[in-house]
Amino acid sequence: MTKLISQLDPPATVYLKDYRAPDYGIESVELRFDLGEETTRVHARLHVTSQYDRATGVRPLVLDGHDVVLKSVTLDGRPLRTEEYTLNPASLIIPQLPARCTLEIETEIRPQDNTTLMGLYKSSGNFCTQCEAQGFRRMTYFLDRPDVMARYTTTIVADRTQYPVLLSNGNCVAQGTMDGQRHFATWQDPFPKPSYLFALVAGDLARIEDEFVTRSGRKVLLHMFVQQHNAHKCQHAMASLKKAMHWDEVVYGCEYDLDVYMVVAVDDFNMGAMENKGLNVFNSKYVLAQPETATDMDYQGIEGVIGHEYFHNWSGNRVTCRDWFQLSLKEGFTVFRDQEFSADMGSRGVKRIQDVNALRSHQFREDAGPMAHPVRPPSYVEINNFYTMTVYNKGAEVVRMLHGLLGASGFRKGTDLYFSRHDGQAVTTDDFVAALEDANATDFSQFRRWYSQAGTPVLHIQRAYSAAERTYTLRVRQSCPATPGQEHKQPFHIPLAVGLLDAEGQDLPLRLSGETASVPGTRVLPIRNEDETFVFIDVPHAPVPSLLRGFSAPVKIEIDLTDAERCFLMGHDSDAFNRWEAGQQLAIKIILRLIDAERAGRPWVLDAAFIAAMEKTLHSNTLDQAMIAQVLSLPSESYVAEFMPVIDPQAIHTALRFMRRSLAQALGAAMLKIYEANAHAGPYSTDAHAMGQRSLKNVCLGYLMELEDPQFTQRCVRQFHDAGNMTDQMAALHALVNTDGAERTAALAAFYEQWRDDALVMDKWLAIQATSRLPTTLAAVKALTSHPVFNIKNPNKVRALIGSFCHANPARFHAASGEGYRFIGDFIRTLDPINPQVAARLVAAFSLWRRYDPPRQALMREQLQRILAIPELSRDVYEIVSKSLADKAGMI
Ligand code: TRP
Ligand code: ZN
Repeated sequence: MTKLISQLDPPATVYLKDYRAPDYGIESVELRFDLGEETTRVHARLHVTSQYDRATGVRPLVLDGHDVVLKSVTLDGRPLRTEEYTLNPASLIIPQLPARCTLEIETEIRPQDNTTLMGLYKSSGNFCTQCEAQGFRRMTYFLDRPDVMARYTTTIVADRTQYPVLLSNGNCVAQGTMDGQRHFATWQDPFPKPSYLFALVAGDLARIEDEFVTRSGRKVLLHMFVQQHNAHKCQHAMASLKKAMHWDEVVYGCEYDLDVYMVVAVDDFNMGAMENKGLNVFNSKYVLAQPETATDMDYQGIEGVIGHEYFHNWSGNRVTCRDWFQLSLKEGFTVFRDQEFSADMGSRGVKRIQDVNALRSHQFREDAGPMAHPVRPPSYVEINNFYTMTVYNKGAEVVRMLHGLLGASGFRKGTDLYFSRHDGQAVTTDDFVAALEDANATDFSQFRRWYSQAGTPVLHIQRAYSAAERTYTLRVRQSCPATPGQEHKQPFHIPLAVGLLDAEGQDLPLRLSGETASVPGTRVLPIRNEDETFVFIDVPHAPVPSLLRGFSAPVKIEIDLTDAERCFLMGHDSDAFNRWEAGQQLAIKIILRLIDAERAGRPWVLDAAFIAAMEKTLHSNTLDQAMIAQVLSLPSESYVAEFMPVIDPQAIHTALRFMRRSLAQALGAAMLKIYEANAHAGPYSTDAHAMGQRSLKNVCLGYLMELEDPQFTQRCVRQFHDAGNMTDQMAALHALVNTDGAERTAALAAFYEQWRDDALVMDKWLAIQATSRLPTTLAAVKALTSHPVFNIKNPNKVRALIGSFCHANPARFHAASGEGYRFIGDFIRTLDPINPQVAARLVAAFSLWRRYDPPRQALMREQLQRILAIPELSRDVYEIVSKSLADKAGMI
């Protein structure tokens, strides 16, 4: 009989409040992996010490294990009889053991059958590991928790022709050949670390070498390992790594600490990359690039992820997490660090816009749904479900606010104290905040609520000008919607950066009542109470307020600005971010009005003032090309959805298309000129200016293609064929794939022929078809699941085809017939037993189901219920589905 996990055996919830320090520590570990095609043997020797008062009685040692076959256990050299331990599906329990002892454990595993990509698995014929969060227990029994830190010595034994390269953390201390075909290498990591930072790689890989001299003069070898045929695609990643190493020395005073830094690229990987000590393992998407195959966005992604994993060496590895509830300690901080690194390397303004877009389109959604959780979650069923936009990106915003509140030098004092105080420790987000407080003699007790309260705060702002008093009053009221388990919220401490524009668009000097002097430009209003009033004095006439400059806090703003005021901000705000923001908010207002007009049977016309503001932007000489391209880019369908009480994905899609087409009709001639002026950018370069030119040119091309004019289609086809780089080729293909003609079919076929042997480019080929606006898209996606380039076991392929369809094509996924939902429901049934982590990410596409109209609600709920009834459903998918069905918070 098959059991329904949901009915008989609901997975347990783990709570932060139940945290207890471990009874046992592991001082050092000696591991030996005998890698084989049939079975792999893992021999672990653990040096265990008690960490509790043994006068109160001896406590059992409970080692974690998952899907491993126990072969033998010895304690201080003596084999344990079966009655001296208990073996459960998830643990090995030894009730009696001395205060200090050595345990030797032998297990057997089958990496070649491991499709979960957690623990030891094979990718493209090579062995590799992924241990975060709980993969180590899939290799041997261990205290698989981050507050158990040990020194590791690892020996790998494998066939010497099939696996010439043998790698683990730290330094290679011995290597040699053995009898027959086998060889070995021994690696030693001098730094104590949690098991999640362990890594092992064995394979036939090319090694790309470089070096970096630290500011104290130590030479560090930099080694990148990739499949032989990709050896020429590592230059950008290597250059990014050196920039990151230098940046961390300058900005944080952090130096690299081992003699070698290794990066391995693998094709099969659940996430972006992993910061294993001295041996990062990367999704090849974030290593391999050359202009012909990678877009500007890919180049930026590589720089960001290389930086991210490198920065973890201090924020994550030297100072690590006490438990998984503290995940944002390392991820939020490290995302903030990588965002600032990218901002310093390229265009700061554009980077901020990209980061805010990602946060508002995806994290705000998460915060409004059944999986909403604080940056430091209080509980989880499956920790893999908490590698979220909230923990990563909202966590980064929280660190960014701390940076803003302390200023760069105060923040640096705080991080210096944090790194020196906690080096070698496993700590909490509270410890992080305490270090910043202590170094600056300040108090963040109210600010800490950002870590414990979920939901996106809303600032409701009213303004009033008094000509008689020459005062300008801002009244700011904050609230935060209920989220699962948190009905009522305490007020947040919110830094609200504001400026006031005079009639010429200049910043007024700002002086609050009671102050003696005024401050020019921007100032940060501290919002602490539910209702706050700020009175500016000496204000000569009614200003236009520029609020939340630079997106100074992850909140929503509600204010009744007029269209004219927003257009004025678009043209004049000294804060470039808010110039862009004014355009975005205006576009959203107009889209919502269009949707209302449609429902009321009124004809659609696009606002002349909006067109004029866009035209001014197009010709701006104060914004650079990259910023102009951002202003011209309309808000995403999923961000617009945030503003509809009942989301109508087709209406949003149609209104946005109308808006794009109307803008193209009004501004086509100017756009064509700009397109031509930026068409020939010279040899490919990834400097910010060249990227800006390409992005503006391609935004213009996209608009022109809305006109469905054969002249532009031909121009687009020409760009597709002549493009010397993937950015231009993809931009053209993207536009063509949204048209319904012979050019589309021809371009897709040509692209396939040109790039069929390049796995990463094939991901693009799949994704671009899955996000097409054509009504035939679902049928195409279904057909592509049986195309030879698709592989359900490869997460990049699943994300490209299936993930793009359900997360990035709302109009098609939410088809009223429910066929999109059914397709995803069926797909999850197949994927879950193969890779539950990736399946759980797909099922999240249903989690906002209560925000849609009743027929769609019923169709989505039906799929969620079908999924819940799957026998042996994974914990990962179970948690998301059950929470989605249970929660009422998203209901209007
Ligand atoms: N720590 C990784 C990062 O830098 C996250 C990660 C990589 C991960 N692979 C994983 C998390 C697999 C869970 C499962 O962001
Ligand atoms: Zn990370």
